[in-house]
Amino acid sequence: MKIKKEVNMCGIVGALAQRNVNEILLEGLRRLEYRGYDSAGVCLVDGEQQLQLRKSQGKVADLEARLHDNPAAGRLGIAHTRWATHGVPSDHNSHPHVSGQIALVHNGIIENYRDLRARLLGLGYEFASDTDTETVVHLIHSLTNEGMTLLEAVTAATAELEGAYAIGVISADEPQTLVCARSGSPLVIGVGIEENFIASDPMALRQVTDRFVFLEEGDVAQVSLEGIAVFDQHGEEVSRPVHKLDGGHDAADKGRYRHFMQKEIFEQPEVVKATLAGRIGAHTVLPEALGARANEILPEVKQVQIVACGTSYHAGLVARYWLEDWAGIPCAVEVASEIRYRKTAVRPGTLFVTISQSGETADTLAALRQAKELGYLASMTICNVPNSSLVRESELSLMTEAGPEIGVASTKAFTTQLVALQLFCIALAKANGMPADKEAELVGALHQLPELMEDFTGLDQLVKATSEAFAEKHHTLFLGRGVEYPIALEGALKLKEISYIHAEAYPAGELKHGPLALVDADMPVVVVAPNNELLEKLKSNLQEVRARGGELFVFASPRAGFASEPGVTVVEVPDAPDSLAPILYTVPLQLLSYHVALLKGTDVDQPRNLAKSVTVE
Ligand code: G6P
Repeated sequence: MKIKKEVNMCGIVGALAQRNVNEILLEGLRRLEYRGYDSAGVCLVDGEQQLQLRKSQGKVADLEARLHDNPAAGRLGIAHTRWATHGVPSDHNSHPHVSGQIALVHNGIIENYRDLRARLLGLGYEFASDTDTETVVHLIHSLTNEGMTLLEAVTAATAELEGAYAIGVISADEPQTLVCARSGSPLVIGVGIEENFIASDPMALRQVTDRFVFLEEGDVAQVSLEGIAVFDQHGEEVSRPVHKLDGGHDAADKGRYRHFMQKEIFEQPEVVKATLAGRIGAHTVLPEALGARANEILPEVKQVQIVACGTSYHAGLVARYWLEDWAGIPCAVEVASEIRYRKTAVRPGTLFVTISQSGETADTLAALRQAKELGYLASMTICNVPNSSLVRESELSLMTEAGPEIGVASTKAFTTQLVALQLFCIALAKANGMPADKEAELVGALHQLPELMEDFTGLDQLVKATSEAFAEKHHTLFLGRGVEYPIALEGALKLKEISYIHAEAYPAGELKHGPLALVDADMPVVVVAPNNELLEKLKSNLQEVRARGGELFVFASPRAGFASEPGVTVVEVPDAPDSLAPILYTVPLQLLSYHVALLKGTDVDQPRNLAKSVTVE
């Protein structure tokens, strides 16, 4: 069996019970909506041992409407949200795919599907879709035709697959069996009492169980009412531990908020506090913050290579300023999809750090796996999901405590990444001789962070009023200098992700090397202007914008000495220590993109074309 490109955009849910599982499957799909998808489907085995298949392009609500018109029920079923890779979003390309009495859902990409398709066409199979997935269900069907059980057929079929997959398979001829397998895409089994479930993410099943078995790469499992049998990649039956996940708050509930993104912005004071809890003392970062192994490794670190994607990459860019300033340690930051495809020169003593909300991002994971062959000192991940692939495969992990993040546009995951990175940078600086009073100053500031975060979320109404100036615009420019430059990048990313307004970020000093040519009254310029040593230089850059008729929106503290005037709107933010500025100034930029998106009427939590968890390579 050849593998592995990690892909996990789609969502899988499956259930086997002594009751109708239709609503369990639909609720599971609703809970997976955050991942981003373009179609949904469900297949149940009814009391007559017939497959009942319903699929629909669009949202889970469209599938529900279809089920309302044409109901289906059964005690065994699988369901899916699809994010199109092979074949456009359409009813016929949606999963489940069916072959005879067998139905299958798949998350991932089958790379050798062309060969398999040719072979199956030769055997007389007809294809109803353009997907790579359909080859797998026909392959399994052809093997059951040779007399194999469903479990045997799935085991034999997966041995032939190249690429990445998590699959759930049912057969109307075996109504007491749900078979699943994973390699390269996540899959968990939810353990109930005389009922069992599968899903891409435990969150999809939190309404029915809190006990989960996490499948390992290459596992095939047979789920029945009585229990679960797991077979490893060599076909040996193995025992995988059952993890009890703590209750926590139900992340799939928006509570009093209109959108998950809004809820997650306002949760930041609380989750920032949770990320600091037990990790800082009065004046120091506690030794237990990073764990005993980290404390052994950190003194050996001569250089740091950070790798991440999207918003997590921006967190890495911020950390570079902190590391070089406080620890005097050189740091490089690169997007995972770039570093994994080029030859890199690794100096001895370099720590390889990944940053990821999900812990499953395809390129980041591939870069980590590659790094293991390249002579790095050790690998560390800053991650929000325990048990994720990055956490399992990294030697050190520092968890952010953001709780599940549902909105596709990352908010609280980003600010908690910055908090975790700050702890890491202080610990590394300390191991490199940072004086105690500097550490005390930085830790003292961190103690103020949750409260300041609260003050910054309090800017909501002020930012809302400002957002009106953006709703009709097609382009925006975000400027920052120094450590605020990555925050400008993140602000621009948020705006483009959820409002679809073209937004670019530049270090303010680069303005006259190109983007100034674009500046006119139709291009608002957002400026992140904390009161640091670059303020005066930033002010000169802003004059350059004003001189071209550009309209400025400046986020600054009163100490910075900006005043609103025609063409300049100052959004006054609370004063804060310099070391916290990147974390805090992120908040009004998140609020800005949120309110602009509301005015534009876009789908805030599930912006078009984007997915929460992991992009296809
Ligand atoms: C996708 C998400 C982003 C996220 C990026 C990296 O693009 O939409 O919000 O920043 O992936 O994801 P990760 O889970 O590795 O942080």
